Amino acid sequence: PVTGGATAGDGTAPTAVTPPGVAPYVTASPAAGDTGAPGIGDPDFPTDGNGGYDVEHYRLKIDYNPETRHLSGVATITARALQELSRFNLDLSGLTVKRVSVDDGITTFEEVTTAEHAGDELTVTTGDPIPAGKAFTVEVAYAGEPKPVRNSSNLGTYGFIPTRDGAFVTCEPNGAKTWFPGNDHPADKALFDFEITVPAGLTALANGELDGEPVTREGRTTYVWRERHPMVTYLATMTLGRFELRQGRTAAGIKNLAAVDPRYRDSLDDLYTLSGKITDHWATVFGPYPFSSTGGVVDDFSAGYALENQTKPMYGGFDPGEDIIAHELAHQWFGNSLSITRWKDLWLNEGFATYAEWIWSEHRGDSTAEQIFRRHYSADDDAMWAYAPGRARPDDLFNNSVYIRGGMTLHALRQRVGDRVFFELLKTWAAEHKYGYVTTEGFVALAERLSGKQLDALFDAWLFQERKPATW
Ligand code: ARG
Ligand code: ZN
Repeated sequence: PVTGGATAGDGTAPTAVTPPGVAPYVTASPAAGDTGAPGIGDPDFPTDGNGGYDVEHYRLKIDYNPETRHLSGVATITARALQELSRFNLDLSGLTVKRVSVDDGITTFEEVTTAEHAGDELTVTTGDPIPAGKAFTVEVAYAGEPKPVRNSSNLGTYGFIPTRDGAFVTCEPNGAKTWFPGNDHPADKALFDFEITVPAGLTALANGELDGEPVTREGRTTYVWRERHPMVTYLATMTLGRFELRQGRTAAGIKNLAAVDPRYRDSLDDLYTLSGKITDHWATVFGPYPFSSTGGVVDDFSAGYALENQTKPMYGGFDPGEDIIAHELAHQWFGNSLSITRWKDLWLNEGFATYAEWIWSEHRGDSTAEQIFRRHYSADDDAMWAYAPGRARPDDLFNNSVYIRGGMTLHALRQRVGDRVFFELLKTWAAEHKYGYVTTEGFVALAERLSGKQLDALFDAWLFQERKPATW
């Protein structure tokens, strides 16, 4: 329904409802033969992710010592071959690979597996091909000093960031490769199990919930965390250090965990209370909370941003206020449960989370979404009006337009279809694609279906034109 060249689908559109964990956007490699492509096929980030297989599960057993900054890990990755594969890639940056083995349940490719690590690509060759459609396990033992991604265009520092007492781990868009090998692109979700060992006295925080109490042996403590819902790689975290914790449940009964670096001790109670209150409120607006726990983490590292890490949004070196908590928790629905498959659709994450801030403001009796919209509309933010938020800017990915104009797109839509249809649309969108994948085309189609209106011109003006929309 959306017109304009750059908005056309890329020919791999999935059916409306995608089953949990299945990645319809991982295409069989266009390369001939039985070689998986070194990129998943995102034209704006051509080497991110990989083709030819779909990861179903990551088991990450990781030991880290903040004093030496040494990490040693074993990643056990269960994947399904989408084509015959005698060779495939994993994304891994900087660490040293010690051993790689592949097993498809019939053949242990022990004798023939070779691995070559060049740049951020680990190429695994099994010799005998894994048949198309078959599940296989690849185990990678690796070690070294993790290095975050720094200053690649304007993304700042992200990935595994060593801190004085541990690590601050926020990976959007492609920093997961700095601490584990995988298919590092949002178009391939998987389940995650973490087994993290750190010096006793430190806390390891990963996604999902703790499986049993941490166990301390010979001065080292092991934390086992499980994320039981599909998750993209950039939302995975293993944030480490000294933390003060507050745990309990929200009023609606969702497990809630707040953790703060001792320097942010005074923020702990507010973080806990607001995260609980806002999670419960979003569940009434967007539909049931998609995960098994909520909360937040404040660490003593000035990232200059927050990240919606699944179940545990992370706030980098500041005391988070209501707006940003509302934003990161809205991402649990839009971005985390519903994931984009190409970075050009980032407004489906950031525009929605920004609009959620405006709804939260309206809800608590502050400025209404309409007032905030008008304020932005009258501002001469030339850069924002020149950027079409429906396209990716790989060199300026998290630009204002994706956030603000993305949010304004939703407000323009709300004005057009009315509150009843608009809020029904948000809930239906979240329900129909729960734990799945979304595209701009899919959102426009649903908005047209629920409103019975032709919305091409509206979305075209707001998402794809490099100028200020004349009207809304
Ligand atoms: N998704 C985050 C947010 O909601 C932004 C992440 C920015 N990442 C980065 N590497 N700068 O605000
Ligand atoms: Zn965001």
